[in-house]
Amino acid sequence: MEITSGTISTDYIVIGSGVAGLRAAIELSRAGKVLVITKDRATESSTEYAQGGVAVALSDEDEIGFHLKDTLAAGDGLCNEENVRILVTEGPERIRELISWGAQFDREGGGIKLAFTREAAHSRRRILHANGDSTGREIERALLAKVRAAANIKKYDYSITIDLIVNDGRAEGALVWREREKKLTAIYARAVVLATGGLGQIFQRTTNPEVATGDGFAIAYRAGAALTDMEFVQFHPTSLYVPRAPQFLLSEAMRGEGALLVNVRGERFMPGYHPRAELAPRDVVSRAIVSEMLKTRSEHVYLDLRHLDAGFVRNRFPRIYSTCLKFDIDITEEMIPVSPAAHYMMGGVWTDRDGGTDMPGLYAAGEVACTGVHGANRLASNSLLEGIVFGARAGIAAAAYGLRRPAPRKEAIACKAADAPKDDLLKVRSQLRRLMWGDVGIIRSGESLGRAIDTIDGWREFRDSGPLSRPWLEIRNMLTVGELISKAALARKGSVGAHYRTDYKTRGRGWERHIRFKRD
Ligand code: SIN
Repeated sequence: MEITSGTISTDYIVIGSGVAGLRAAIELSRAGKVLVITKDRATESSTEYAQGGVAVALSDEDEIGFHLKDTLAAGDGLCNEENVRILVTEGPERIRELISWGAQFDREGGGIKLAFTREAAHSRRRILHANGDSTGREIERALLAKVRAAANIKKYDYSITIDLIVNDGRAEGALVWREREKKLTAIYARAVVLATGGLGQIFQRTTNPEVATGDGFAIAYRAGAALTDMEFVQFHPTSLYVPRAPQFLLSEAMRGEGALLVNVRGERFMPGYHPRAELAPRDVVSRAIVSEMLKTRSEHVYLDLRHLDAGFVRNRFPRIYSTCLKFDIDITEEMIPVSPAAHYMMGGVWTDRDGGTDMPGLYAAGEVACTGVHGANRLASNSLLEGIVFGARAGIAAAAYGLRRPAPRKEAIACKAADAPKDDLLKVRSQLRRLMWGDVGIIRSGESLGRAIDTIDGWREFRDSGPLSRPWLEIRNMLTVGELISKAALARKGSVGAHYRTDYKTRGRGWERHIRFKRD
């Protein structure tokens, strides 16, 4: 394969094109030239698939204080309260701004009032939604339109970031593989914003799109930035369980509108697990489902909407209705087989309230970042809000930092690559996903975590060198992230939020500490 290489410079780099990345890019474009780098097409991110909605204290029955309280309660004692306060206080203004940019949320009362739904662990109806169950897609559409209209923002699609360029402990750019052009490009900038999203693909069962391979976590770690709370992976209780069908998310808003969970014997079980029944926090519902699956020796439970009005269900959940119909399930007439799946990473690259990491020049926002607003368990629909609020804050802070820096330099840079058979890479990817699901999934133990760490260590050669290609660049990141999650989960000798160990079922001593990783 012939590879060409080159060096360019810009003012700011944003890696990732979901809600947080685009929102940061809009702020940065006021300060200079911005390059948004994304490894697939621009719309291919978790934002695009976010169904339920965006939580914001804007309804008549709601208050910022209630949103704060619910978020802290879901986070199970490990939230950064100051940052949660920023999230819920700045959220309403950021959402009004998004509406002024053209985002259309569902309305009621003849279009006069915004329509709010309820989701688990929310004490009020506070979830805005768009086109029923396509909220993320609508937000992405509005932000992309704004980005496309900004003369200062350029996009590199199908471009995979290999690593950050770091000089004297400072992020000064990114080394990027432009897949279609077969071109290696060193891109220098005044500051870099990492907004690469999540890592669900390292688990066999996930609601996340193919692109969610944990790239940003691994890139930041290799660069030397600190990562924190990596043991806290959220498992969504209900993803479609149909052999050979995609693991499609069945929004929590369905339970918010009255859907029930029943086991394969047809028994409703959630009231026996939690006073809030189907609307208990996500970690509780996921573990209850696993427990019912074990009890009934089944691979799934059912989500039942048959008692709800069929017309309402079709209108409220059009995307879910049509997707399930493709797999011959009419959700208005039949129960839907569901099982939990990896959904969201609460931990990530440590940041302050302005998206600043502990590495000068590097900012992070969205799922890849850990602002601490989710603690040990994220409150449903707080992630789009976090992307909007902290994406903007990271953009503003990175712009200010960049304006204080000299013009970026331009130096050629080399990249090491070797040959490895593609089949082997795909095999390791599949084995890793099964390992993480089985040993580092919803229910963990010291034994299973030790086994996972040893197994991943045995795949070191696949992490350390490989062909310059998307499969290798992804598996390299997935192995790094799998190892970090397993080590963090082993280090936390207790069960808190979404992290549950059979050998330490209580919180344990020192539970309020955060586990931080740094290379070396
Ligand atoms: C859902 O629609 O259930 C997902 C919402 C979220 O993860 O916040």
